[in-house]
Order: sequence, then structure tokens, then C-alpha cells
Amino acid sequence: MVTKIGKQVQDFYNETPFPDYELDRFNSKADLASGAYTFAKILDRTIPKNATVIDVGTGTGQLSSFLSLNRKNVWGIDLSDGSLSKARKLKEKLKLDSLTLKKVDILNDKEIEDIGMKFDYVLCLGVLHHTGDAYKGFKNILKLLKPGGHIAIGLYNKYGRIPLKIRKMLAKTIFKNNDKVKDWFIQMQIGDVKDKERARGWWNDQYLHPHETSHTIGEVLKWFKNNNVKYYQTVPSSTPLYQGALEMAGVWNNANETYPIFPTRFYKQFTWIWRTHHEGGYWITFGRKNA
Ligand SMILES: C[S@@+](CC[C@H](N)C(=O)[O-])C[C@H]1O[C@@H](n2cnc3c(N)ncnc32)[C@H](O)[C@@H]1O
Repeated sequence: MVTKIGKQVQDFYNETPFPDYELDRFNSKADLASGAYTFAKILDRTIPKNATVIDVGTGTGQLSSFLSLNRKNVWGIDLSDGSLSKARKLKEKLKLDSLTLKKVDILNDKEIEDIGMKFDYVLCLGVLHHTGDAYKGFKNILKLLKPGGHIAIGLYNKYGRIPLKIRKMLAKTIFKNNDKVKDWFIQMQIGDVKDKERARGWWNDQYLHPHETSHTIGEVLKWFKNNNVKYYQTVPSSTPLYQGALEMAGVWNNANETYPIFPTRFYKQFTWIWRTHHEGGYWITFGRKNA
């Protein structure tokens, strides 16, 4: 049974799948590869080609499709038929045989169990904060990770999200009828608004969403600690004075990072109010399940 919030979120993504794109943009595997965004390319470079990967809350499947180009077994799961339908169209169009797409509610223990396998990499980007029970979702997706496997969790940050919340309030009130300002707000996040489907998808996702929560680094560290997951690092970095750009070699280890103790993470998250405001306060934590 889908929860009440789950149903609202499902309806929302059925109506406005994310990250939306025009199917015509991808006429070949080469198009898909060249159209991949920077972070997806970093993941592709740093996840071994023989690894099994699951993209939890894959939405319209752009990331899982892209990662499947170079791998034999990549899964994308999601709650929304509307999003999965677009992902399936892309899979069919480009004949992505190593991609498996499945409808799964990550809060549903049985549906998680029915997947029937464990993966080397579990990616869950921008999903848990829309479930209504982020911690339960986290514990459930850990069941899909092999011992020694890697995990990446993308969430809205409690501090970093503040500017977007202010923009959201402005968009609902004084700029309610001002499309130019709204375009400008969304342009801030995605660079350009030429792909109308994409811009519409982002607008809905960031400004009209029925349910979101925001979280702190401390919370995620606790989730990791209580579930036997070793902390690697966050992107952006939570190490003091280190601005670390997304470094390809860096995401799946802790080479450049120190463990963010309370004063450090408080300071860092405070800086994220402006540092991550373009991304709506989004940050990713990387770790590895102890073997
Ligand atoms: C913001 S989109 C993120 C899509 C993709 N991961 C990305 O980063 O572009 C959130 C996705 O999470 C999915 N989702 C939300 N709650 C879920 C749940 N309980 N189980 C599975 N998927 C869920 C939604 O359907 C939606 O496709």
C-alpha cells in the first residue's frame, strides 16, 4: 500500500515526470552520452564497468540509461508510472538491453525484497526527501546494497534550501504573474530554459512539489553510523577551507576529506546557504557499506 504522501508524490510525478526531456533529443546512444550532465559523467568514469548499479527513484531514467551504456546490469526503479513510461520509451528507442526498469515503492518492504538481488552501487539522488519517511527509505535501499558496496544519497540541505524557500515564496506572491522572474529563477538552477520540457519539469519539481523535507549532514552521519555504512565524503565538501570541486577520483573515497564534526559541519552548512543556492541546497553524501 502506498502511503498518503506516496500517493500525492506519485500523482505529481505521473503528471510531471522528472527530469523531463524531449525524447527527440536522444536519437542515438551517442546523443545520450554527449547529453549527460557533468555529475552523471563523473559517476560513469568512477563506477567500474563490471559493477552492478541501481538508480533508486530514477524518474525518467536519464542517469540509469546513460550508465547502462557501458555496463551489463543497471537498474532504475521508481514509484511513478508516468516517469517510468518515458524511461521505457527511451530504453526501447535506443535498445538499452542492459537496463532494467521496475516500478517499486521504496517504503514498501515487500517490493524491495521482490527485487531479489543486491548491487555494487546504490544511487539515490533527490528521492528520499520526497518520500515522507527518508530514514525508512534509506534503510530499505540499504537492503539492495552488497556488503562492501557503495552508496550515494542526494538530499536537500536544511540550511542550503533556505534561499529556494524564499524564492518559492516570492514566486507565489509578488511574482505570481511574472514569467520573466520565474524563468530567471529556474535558469539559476539549470543554466538555460531552451528545452521547455526540462524547464517545466524543473519548475514543477522545485516550486510546485506537494511534499519535501530537508536534512542535515549530522542526520545522514547518524543514518550511516547506525547502519554500518562508512562515511566517505560530501559534495560539496564538508571539510573546512576545502572548496573541492567535484573531483572524479574523489567521490568514492575519503582522500581529501576529514570527518565533519559538529562545529565544522555547522559552519559548512551555513556557507551552503549561498554556496548551494543555485542547486536549491542539494548535496550528496557518499559512503560504503562495511563488508
Ligand atoms: C526529483 S525526482 C529525482 C529523479 C532522479 N533521481 C534525478 O536525480 O534526476 C524524485 C523521484 O523519486 C521518485 N520517488 C518518490 N518517492 C518514491 C518512493 N517512495 N519510491 C520510489 N520512488 C520514489 C519520484 O517518483 C521521482 O521520480
